[in-house]
Amino acid sequence: MTVDFQTLAVKGVQGLNPYQPGKPIEELERELGISDILKLASNENPMGPSTTVVDALHDPVIEMDLYPDGNGFILKQKLSEKIGVSQSQITLGNGSNDVLDMIARAFLCAGREAVYSEYAFAVYPISVQSVGATAKVAKALPVDHQDNPYGHDLQAMQALISDKTSVIFIANPNNPTGTWLGAKELDDFVSRVPESVIVVVDEAYFEYVQEPDYPDTLQWLDKYPNLIVTRTFSKIYALASLRVGYAVCSEPIADLLNRVRQPFNVNTPALVAATAALDDEEHLQTCRDMNTQGIKFWQAACQSRGLGYIPGVGNFITIDFGQFAMPIYEALLREGVIVRPVANYGLPNHLRITISTAEENQQCLDALDKVLANLHPQITPINADD
Ligand SMILES: Cc1ncc(COP(=O)(O)O)c(C=O)c1O
Repeated sequence: MTVDFQTLAVKGVQGLNPYQPGKPIEELERELGISDILKLASNENPMGPSTTVVDALHDPVIEMDLYPDGNGFILKQKLSEKIGVSQSQITLGNGSNDVLDMIARAFLCAGREAVYSEYAFAVYPISVQSVGATAKVAKALPVDHQDNPYGHDLQAMQALISDKTSVIFIANPNNPTGTWLGAKELDDFVSRVPESVIVVVDEAYFEYVQEPDYPDTLQWLDKYPNLIVTRTFSKIYALASLRVGYAVCSEPIADLLNRVRQPFNVNTPALVAATAALDDEEHLQTCRDMNTQGIKFWQAACQSRGLGYIPGVGNFITIDFGQFAMPIYEALLREGVIVRPVANYGLPNHLRITISTAEENQQCLDALDKVLANLHPQITPINADD
């Protein structure tokens, strides 16, 4: 090979690391020769989608030989009624990652900057750098911060805004930390951002959040025409494999996003499933309640074991093992449990565990106790019902 293809790639791409997905169940089964693997690595919803979705997908009208509705009319219509915005404010994506990418392609390029926080969702650097823009990463709040350890430091983010800044990404709640911002502080922040800078509030996990102070950002779209709210059907709606997410924003911005949107970016089964999913509020509530119970379970388990954790509000808990966590991750794999190392986020001592059903949470905790007992004989595993 005479050409070093690395040097042919645009500079931002040369500096990127590929996104690390959670290890697939099939791969671990092959590697270890075991079955019944528990995967708690990708913040998927263990309850699966609503039966309304399953029924809709069995409907024979899904014609696979035809292109999908490129405008996603029926889904947008239903979504617009549900969330109280006009259809022309909604942009559909192949997952919300696709929408984040569209935002980067519409508003960023070489010479422009995007601001986001340390520990923020890993897709922001990919979207920003792949269009040649520069990422300005604000230090997160300190680990011992009283209210929001590891959280977005909005002051630090504001300090990074310059006349080159085109986009600010805020994950609320953030993955992998689960940290979140309240309505007042976020509103104050957005009000201070120049209107010429796009503020993206990524709400992939918003349906899980039960905090009374969590913002209703869609109410702000009239006063902040530079605001884009992104959401997904991958998390509480449990449609991760189908890939559908959306942005809600002012019409002029939606128009720009639609210019860079790939034709037919959301496939027909995804459109059908997402539309049907919106019908089942009860399923959503069941999933939300299970998650809330699961967070309490894990927080109590960490406290009784003297393990630190980030007090998050997503569908996952990020545990601080106070030591390099990779051996714990690997030992858990050998116990048939896949969790997520987050060293790539600058959190080498942490592992992120997706909240699951009561039974699976317990199964994971039992495995963790076994692993910790072997690593640290001084940490005594406690009873299942503690
Ligand atoms: C904070 C955050 N935003 C966006 C996404 C993207 O989800 P999707 O592309 O599946 O909609 C994720 C997925 O894990 C996430 O954690």
